[in-house]
Amino acid sequence: MTAVSYRLQGEVAVLAIANPPVNALSLPVRTGLMEGLRRAAGDDAVEAVVLTGSGGVFSSGADINEIASGAALTPPTLRDLQETMEASRKPLVAAIDGIAFGGGFEIALTCHWRVGSSSARVGLPEVKLGLLPGAGGTQRFTRLAGPAAALEAITSGAPIAASRALELHLLDAIGDDPLAAAIELARAALHERRPLRVTSEIGEHLPEGTAELFADFRRRIAAKARGQLAPARIIDSIEVACTRPREEAFRLERQYFLECRDSPQRKALTHVFFAEREARRIPGLPPDTEPLPIRTAAVIGAGTMGGGIAMSFANAGIPVALLEVSSEALERGLEVIRRNYAASVARGSLTQARAAQTLALIRGVSDYQALGDADIVVEAVFESLALKREVFARLDAVAAAHTVLATNTSTLDIDAIAASTHRPAQVVGTHFFSPANVMKLLENVRGRQTSARTIATVMALGKTLGKIPVLAGNCDGFIGNRMLMFYGSEAEFLLEEGATPEQIDRVMEGFGFAMGPLAVRDLAGNDVGFLIRKGRTLPADERWSPILERIVAAGRLGQKTGKGFYRYEGRTRSVDPEVTALIEGVSRELGVRRRAIPDEEILERLLHPLVNEGARILEEGIAIRASDIDVVYVYGYGFPAWRGGPMFWAEQAGLTRVVETMRRLAPTHGARWGPAALLERLAREGSGFGSVRSPAGGPRHG
Ligand code: NAI
Repeated sequence: MTAVSYRLQGEVAVLAIANPPVNALSLPVRTGLMEGLRRAAGDDAVEAVVLTGSGGVFSSGADINEIASGAALTPPTLRDLQETMEASRKPLVAAIDGIAFGGGFEIALTCHWRVGSSSARVGLPEVKLGLLPGAGGTQRFTRLAGPAAALEAITSGAPIAASRALELHLLDAIGDDPLAAAIELARAALHERRPLRVTSEIGEHLPEGTAELFADFRRRIAAKARGQLAPARIIDSIEVACTRPREEAFRLERQYFLECRDSPQRKALTHVFFAEREARRIPGLPPDTEPLPIRTAAVIGAGTMGGGIAMSFANAGIPVALLEVSSEALERGLEVIRRNYAASVARGSLTQARAAQTLALIRGVSDYQALGDADIVVEAVFESLALKREVFARLDAVAAAHTVLATNTSTLDIDAIAASTHRPAQVVGTHFFSPANVMKLLENVRGRQTSARTIATVMALGKTLGKIPVLAGNCDGFIGNRMLMFYGSEAEFLLEEGATPEQIDRVMEGFGFAMGPLAVRDLAGNDVGFLIRKGRTLPADERWSPILERIVAAGRLGQKTGKGFYRYEGRTRSVDPEVTALIEGVSRELGVRRRAIPDEEILERLLHPLVNEGARILEEGIAIRASDIDVVYVYGYGFPAWRGGPMFWAEQAGLTRVVETMRRLAPTHGARWGPAALLERLAREGSGFGSVRSPAGGPRHG
């Protein structure tokens, strides 16, 4: 089969991309398109050309492997194709079914007209890989839809529904059968002798591209896009579309594209893209393991997490029973859920009808008998082993034989919970992140006896719920929270030594974290953090800083009490001299002479513990591969995706350097700074984390 088929429908040549599964624009496709265009141009019987995709998809865009290897620029390139298209004297119409993304959409944008099916989605998602659409995408999109729409769409990379694309003039028509509609449009254009509409020559929308518009937009996305190259260059590129002559603007777009392509950020984002997919592969799982289909679910506990988890099921169309201890607690939980949906409707992100439909899938119950025969039950009661064991024993007694029993515990021993049932093979951790209906990560945790089918089920569930699932082994804190413990405590040691909360948070936010560690503590609740800490035993040569305990004792529980490490007006934080005094008091008591701490020291003291604990997690087999740890940190803990995650960051910094830094800090800052054996070995061998796979084909148990 050729990558592009060519057939005649009367006087119209139809070129259909056929490169399953998503018609990526790899070299054979580009070659096929070029041949097809030339053949159509040279055939006197052909009067118009329609470009389409087979298999219900136009094209998902460039072949990502080719971008990484540079092969995407092997001729014919997209730009070569576009030159040929723009030189065509015969009408070119794109017929878009399914998706036209990235380079695929750039090709469609180069046609004279575009027709989409009503379910078609178009868009330029390059920013997600640290790139900008470098085949004229920023230029042609802006010329058709205007700069305001282009800024919004291309810096977010979000898909655009057909109806919206029509409003934005990105599509010229919507038809149930886009191919037939495109052929019809081509014939009408021929019949009426319509002038060919070369997108790159359109100028009608450009006057609204004022300097003010760009200044405003740059200001608006400053916080979200802080430190990131691709969004900045996308804005520049859209601006030059409005302000510079066409040739120069296209040349600049090209230059910005190459700058992004060669940047470490592009490399990091590509790493995360592949890591996310790799995380779904579980070595040692028999290939014929069928996940249990999840048709109905139940959640125990309608608190912060239980409510969000129930919403996640409902959002995916899965009916869910939500159980609480009392009718008051249940009503409280349901009220929060109702308010959340109402807020989405008010924001315009959900229609009233859809909200009502989704809400109707959540059924509050107060009796275990009413759980029915749910395919999975997720427990989200208080973080107490005794309580969870009690709940699991009851669930075991009432749940159907096939039901998977999952716990949302953030730290507790999965095996100890499983032991309170007669079905340990069907017990598993499903660790959601707060807010559970929003956060992307699902950290699944396997116990000693968790079966292959149960694992396959919760991994598939992650996908069904629109989340990114990662599998962890059973140990205190699993992957994410175990690493967080050292990161959090190091921040307090820095406070004792002379840093301030705002300095620490500024440095980490400057690095790209969504929030610094102390702002995060205030958001999650300092009492919660302190409780978790109290439940832990430290090695004899370690200690906690007393700062967190003092903050809690002062009633500074965080945002919920209007004060924590900061003082709050709504969500806006400001420095509180009382906190400064409290911290300085602790330093005095401990006999620590406060010093000015350089920003670089804060960064290295907070990032290295993450890497070191990550390496231990890897060598113990708690994580299957280093890139899983990166996925956990990017999607669960706000680590900047454009830095690739902590393990990727360490490799880029150089493992030898990382080990040296730890050795340098160990004598002053304690035994926890001793580099993990795995790090030492990799640094010595000059190899990277890529060579490390969990030996048992999955996490062992700690
Ligand atoms: P929460 O205190 O907001 O909610 C717990 C709910 O469970 C309460 O509504 C309580 O009435 C209910 N409950 C207690 N005993 C019950 C029982 N026997 N039967 C039915 N319902 C019962 O707590 P949160 O924050 O939702 O945490 C729940 C679990 O999720 C904990 O294991 C926690 O460690 C874990 N978790 C919490 C995260 C967070 O950010 N809050 C993040 C990830 C996991």
